[in-house]
Amino acid sequence: MSAQLIDGKAAAARITQSVKQLVEQRVSRGRRPPGLAVVLVGHDPASEVYVRHKRIACDYCGIVSKAHYPNADISELQLLTMIDELNADDEIDGILVQTPLPAHINAETIIERIRPDKDVDGFHPYNIGRLALRLPTLRSCTPYGVMELLAGIGETFHGREAVVVGASNHVGRPMGLELLRAGCTVTTCHRFTVNLQQWVQRAEILVVAVGKPGLVSGEWVRPGATVIDVGINRMADGRLAGDVDFHSANERAAWITPVPGGVGPMTVAMLMKNTFDAAEARSRLADGPR
Ligand code: GUN
Repeated sequence: MSAQLIDGKAAAARITQSVKQLVEQRVSRGRRPPGLAVVLVGHDPASEVYVRHKRIACDYCGIVSKAHYPNADISELQLLTMIDELNADDEIDGILVQTPLPAHINAETIIERIRPDKDVDGFHPYNIGRLALRLPTLRSCTPYGVMELLAGIGETFHGREAVVVGASNHVGRPMGLELLRAGCTVTTCHRFTVNLQQWVQRAEILVVAVGKPGLVSGEWVRPGATVIDVGINRMADGRLAGDVDFHSANERAAWITPVPGGVGPMTVAMLMKNTFDAAEARSRLADGPR
């Protein structure tokens, strides 16, 4: 038997449509549309694709997107100054600095400079700390999107064995915090984990976010598990593949995300939601509820 597919494209479309309506209602209440600043340093081709998808989603939702494309040789100090300007700009509600950044720029220094209430990626230590304390504010987009996908298939979370493979700052760690907050028993596996297969086999909810095609074999998947594949790997023949061997995992899982069309579109949709929420929170602070 094969698993049921979790259609991230359709779920993302529902979320962006609801953000579009919320933006229309906000504007009809006399407020300006939300504004998102996207900063892309240099010309990384994959980043250019991601940024284009984000701009298209902004246009659809009625969010004003302002792109900044500094050259790859911009200094860290110049980039920090750009962030300071965006932090002070009243028409900007969200600031997103696309990663990876050139090697001479420390990404953590840049992220920490973004005002936490404009950190629509949900990467700032303040926002990660709030999530760790079960007081989420702006939530990291990919883990937030995964939680929406899981809720959408009726996942109840409480007491479930969840295994996250990958412990990155932007996905694996906040993913573990999300699942813990939701009531799962969470294990995070990483590069020093001994016998990965043994941990993966336990998972009722398996989230893999490493960036290595085929890292997780389908034979390791617990029968009836839900498999969320965050990996998006470009193969030599141009195809996209996840971190999980889809065909063998599909035989054992109850639910599985495809790559592409699974988690990827949800990251952009949650960015739209975060940008709207950031705009509303700032407006409420400035002039009360309306
Ligand atoms: N690079 C790859 N994915 C992302 C993302 O979601 N946000 C940012 N800022 N950079 C990325």
